[in-house]
Amino acid sequence: MKIFKLKEELKSYLNSQAKDKITSFVPTMGALHEGHLSLILNAKKNSDLVICSIFVNPTQFNNLKDLEEYPRTPNRDIKALSDINCDVVYLPEISNIYQTNEKLKPYHFNGLDTFMEGKDRPGHFEGVATVIEKLFKIVRPNKAYFGQKDLQQLQIIKYITKQLNFETEIIGVSTKRERSGLAMSSRNKRLSSSDLDKATLIYKTLLFIKENAYKHSIEELKQTCIQKFNEEPKLHLEYLEIVSLDNLHPIDMYKHKGCNAACIAASISSVRLIDNIIF
Ligand code: PAJ
Repeated sequence: MKIFKLKEELKSYLNSQAKDKITSFVPTMGALHEGHLSLILNAKKNSDLVICSIFVNPTQFNNLKDLEEYPRTPNRDIKALSDINCDVVYLPEISNIYQTNEKLKPYHFNGLDTFMEGKDRPGHFEGVATVIEKLFKIVRPNKAYFGQKDLQQLQIIKYITKQLNFETEIIGVSTKRERSGLAMSSRNKRLSSSDLDKATLIYKTLLFIKENAYKHSIEELKQTCIQKFNEEPKLHLEYLEIVSLDNLHPIDMYKHKGCNAACIAASISSVRLIDNIIF
């Protein structure tokens, strides 16, 4: 496995590869778990060269404390990537991606960022878009893989990829879960076993919505679910939205099967968790 810290070296390595090789890219912020690795494994199935980046992107964090506390486990990550035969890892320093005091350019997401994470985390998606544009310009992948777990991020990246005329195909990969159903996340490590147990209500609620959709109105279903969270006061519900998959706006009437998504953000012991289901 090749490891690069400088974009200049990564670019010249990629330039030296045969032009007909299909390259796939999996951007991450490290602290890799099986969810991340499933993206790499999916990418490996359909390409000749898989590049994974590990970069804790400062511009997408809403506060400094969150950025400082973000887990960093580069040696473990490199071992995990090498164990599954990832081809290339790119581990840049901040100065290899951003200029000092760089002024970020604005993005337009066509309303995909109006609700949920966009509303709760101002500036977050601008930071994600900024780093993805920079990374795509360096890697120029044929395909890039993102988790459905971050549904709003996935849809926004699909949108900006087209807007910015990248020829990269964006592929969404289904959410990898713990046996309890809890979506895998590097943040789960910060939870006690009792909190982990309580957090399973998130996925149970999403399944409940999928199973009961079309039988009850959206408003009724939401109220029933909010009540379930009220009964578990340690798990604080930030939002529960049922949205149209195409524009991520809340709906009051169901769309066709497969075109709706239920999305939840909830926090427990100061750990914020998100999850969603498409139905
Ligand atoms: P990060 O949180 O490290 O996630 C990297 C990728 O792994 C994202 O596409 C995310 O959706 C996916 N992922 C996380 N948990 C997953 C799970 N349980 N199952 C499947 N996929 C999962 O998302 C980011 O980093 C950053 O915003 C990034 C896109 C790298 C830009 O900085």
